[in-house]
Amino acid sequence: MKESFYITTPIYYVNDIPHIGHAYTTIAADTMARYKRMSGCDTFFLTGTDEHGQKIERAAKAHETSPIELADKVVIRFKNLWKRLDITNDDFIRTTEPRHLKFVQLLFNKLYEQGDIYLGNYEGWYCTPCESFFTETEAPDKSCPQCGRTLEKLKEESYFFRLSRYQNKLLEFYKSHPNFVIPNTRFNEVKSFVTRGLQDLSVSRTSFSWGIPVPFDDKHVIYVWFDALINYISAINYGCKNSETSRYWPAVHIVGKDILQFHAVYWPAMLIAGGIEPPKQVVAHGWWTSEGKKMSKSLGNVVDPNSMISQFGRDSFRYFLLRDVPFGQDGDFSIKAIKNRINSDLANDLGNLFNRVATLIKKNSSGLIPDVSGLPEAEENFEKMHKSAAESMEKFDFLNALKSIWNYISWTNKFITDAKPWALTDKNKLDVTLASAAYALHAIAYELAPFMPDTAEVIKRRLSDNSEFKWDNFKWDIRGSKVEKGEILFRRYDFKKDVKENKDHEKEKSHISIDDVMKLELKTAEIVSAKRVEKSEKLIKLEVSLKDEKRTIVAGIGKSYNPEELIGKKIIIVANLAPRQLLGIQSNGMLLAASNKDTLSLLSVDKDIDSGSPIH
Ligand code: MSP
Repeated sequence: MKESFYITTPIYYVNDIPHIGHAYTTIAADTMARYKRMSGCDTFFLTGTDEHGQKIERAAKAHETSPIELADKVVIRFKNLWKRLDITNDDFIRTTEPRHLKFVQLLFNKLYEQGDIYLGNYEGWYCTPCESFFTETEAPDKSCPQCGRTLEKLKEESYFFRLSRYQNKLLEFYKSHPNFVIPNTRFNEVKSFVTRGLQDLSVSRTSFSWGIPVPFDDKHVIYVWFDALINYISAINYGCKNSETSRYWPAVHIVGKDILQFHAVYWPAMLIAGGIEPPKQVVAHGWWTSEGKKMSKSLGNVVDPNSMISQFGRDSFRYFLLRDVPFGQDGDFSIKAIKNRINSDLANDLGNLFNRVATLIKKNSSGLIPDVSGLPEAEENFEKMHKSAAESMEKFDFLNALKSIWNYISWTNKFITDAKPWALTDKNKLDVTLASAAYALHAIAYELAPFMPDTAEVIKRRLSDNSEFKWDNFKWDIRGSKVEKGEILFRRYDFKKDVKENKDHEKEKSHISIDDVMKLELKTAEIVSAKRVEKSEKLIKLEVSLKDEKRTIVAGIGKSYNPEELIGKKIIIVANLAPRQLLGIQSNGMLLAASNKDTLSLLSVDKDIDSGSPIH
């Protein structure tokens, strides 16, 4: 019987487009899935999207679309990125699929019937206009983090999962599974969280509707995390008689450190309650910052994996993410760092090795690997490297697995240099040198296949091995095989040239296109009332009239104008600016003013034009 292996990524929210964080988890899981398949394990690899909950409902509203339409659009972006990164998932689950819904309701019902889910009241701070509860930590000053209004203390009816009942069972489980969470430091955090005591978990909501209905009470939708975690068993049709995939459970979950508690505490407790075996392992990785800062849309430093693939190629991007930072720790992404890695590890070490071997064999052996057997030094070193890389992989230590491979690449490069094949007159010595280097290179391609599938395939084929990457197919001795030199594997980045290109790019960036201008909807408007905003020197609340519409605009012109002198003025506004809250007042638009030091002067039109007229 083949050993089976089930690996998952978190399922990604569809309110955001894919970024480096999503790519990182998925690349790590893909590398491990490829590694296990190559080693002969019967492997199942799952990824997918998390499509329910208030976050998605709100994002859909902001995009003036329905949640399912938003999900349908964003899911394509994820699927396309996984294709571009050559991700080999066996299935892709969406939580809006009926196959998933069925499982969630089944487990919810089972836990309810056995008394592990009960109806209670969720107490929290509520914002009525936003229809949201907030905890004291989310809103320490009791004002809404979204709109700034004062919060009310309210109770919402909610179903609760009796998590508190599972504290001891979880602690026992952790004790008997000492590698349940890696890295170990994170496991310690989980254990001390559970030891401090667990509170029952609210698992339903009544304040919005985008979710899976509680099967016996359709006023409630199931809490999005209770829903989402179940994807790992619904996708494999767990426990169903004719399921071909049920046998893969339990799984190894790769997750970011921020969602470890859900996977290492709530999820195993839900499973134990449901009479299902907990996951095999949860592997938590760290977070990426970008060019030294936390990634954020407003800073504009979110790393887009698609653009990285276009700039550097998918293999280099995959390699960089797993090589530059120990899995489990935080890391910083920078263009300089990825270029440095490509230059030193890929172009210099690996690319150069291939190039030297192919050139030497072409020149000295008519392009054929010399016919020699028994290459003890190269083979012994390969076996050592293979063993240590495998030990690292079992611990999800991608970095050290790659380091072992690179030590072998360096050894092979040095072996060639030390033998000085260009000066060798002894034919047998020359043959041994060339064959050793070629055999080593072939083995390196096998080792690299899970990490850099394209490069590994190219090297293997150029050494005339057309078989599939499986360790069962691997032959150390490839004497007589033809070696094709082909194009260079990796191009070096020239940092000096980059400086010039950056300057040109900066120049380009200072211009905007006509499309950017066309996005602005400028209109004339007449000010009908104006009042100072309490407690603010600068802000004035204006009511303006457009043709058939009145709007409130809060403008920072209070130091240059008195409210009275504003009434009746015809001004110019940006009409399609998204509404913003300023000191608790919603502002719908922005007026245009010229500034000269501290003085502001409102822009207006020089003929009598109707209010609400468009400006081109
Ligand atoms: N939908 C939940 C997961 C449910 S799993 C049953 C979710 N989705 S997410 O899209 O917000 O995040 C998914 C993963 O991306 C998480 O593992 C998270 O840690 C990871 N990352 C998000 N930003 C990240 C970085 N900046 N760096 C590395 N990974 C990060 O959470």
